[in-house]
Amino acid sequence: MKKKIVQMSDLHFEEYKFSEELKNNLLEQVSEENPDLIVISGDITAQGYVEEYVKAKEFIDELKSTAKVYVVPGNHDSCNVGLRQFKRLIGDRRFIHNDIHNRMVIIGLDSSEPDIHDGQIGIDQREWLVRELRKVREDMRIIVTFHHHILPIPRTGRERNILLDAGDILKILMEYKVDLVLNGHKHVPHAWRLEELVTVNSGTATTRRLHGTNVPSYNLIKLGEDELHVKMVNTETGVKADLAHYPLEFKFKGKLFKPPIGKIANGSLI
Ligand SMILES: [Fe+2]
Ligand SMILES: [Fe+2]
Repeated sequence: MKKKIVQMSDLHFEEYKFSEELKNNLLEQVSEENPDLIVISGDITAQGYVEEYVKAKEFIDELKSTAKVYVVPGNHDSCNVGLRQFKRLIGDRRFIHNDIHNRMVIIGLDSSEPDIHDGQIGIDQREWLVRELRKVREDMRIIVTFHHHILPIPRTGRERNILLDAGDILKILMEYKVDLVLNGHKHVPHAWRLEELVTVNSGTATTRRLHGTNVPSYNLIKLGEDELHVKMVNTETGVKADLAHYPLEFKFKGKLFKPPIGKIANGSLI
């Protein structure tokens, strides 16, 4: 059974490069796609101010008429005591949702730190994550989302504002066979595969805070029994391009099938 996931990030409501036109395109395009779930991987606001959160909440409420929406905070959302507004208007900063029907577990973590741009998952959340991962049924696909990317993203200039405990979190994700990690932060779409783990970064969907010739975009992810296909979608034009296409290991009649680890496609909108 193929599941359709929309991943968007770095909406930055009320930022000076935020675009109402892009926001409206996004709402229209996502509603047409009719995904099974929507993940927003952080930086929903420009600076964590209340009025930005209010606008972001209005947008998220509209998305909820299409599918279930999962949101984690980013470094910008944690500025100016923004995490209090996140809790009040958006929801818990970390969560686990068992979607038995779709055989998926969605886990959200907060990688932000108040008023600084570096991030970390931290020892408490890592311990919580391990406890939760131990309980996951073997036949479930596991998706984890947090804002700061776990592996460096190319074509973004000097590496900075990183996840400080990337090594520790990466080890947990690989040990517990997480299938998919969804991040944002750099405003550049990208996918990496490390052994069985696939990490997917979304660009900024609704702003023109862009590196070079990048375009505003979000990701359309199709998670099948034996493959993962990621397309990025240009929010301006609706044009789609392959970002990554990987075979996945799968079980059939109790036997584990391990495909060769390799990329089928890796494209670009640039
Ligand atoms: Fe951002
Ligand atoms: Fe960020």
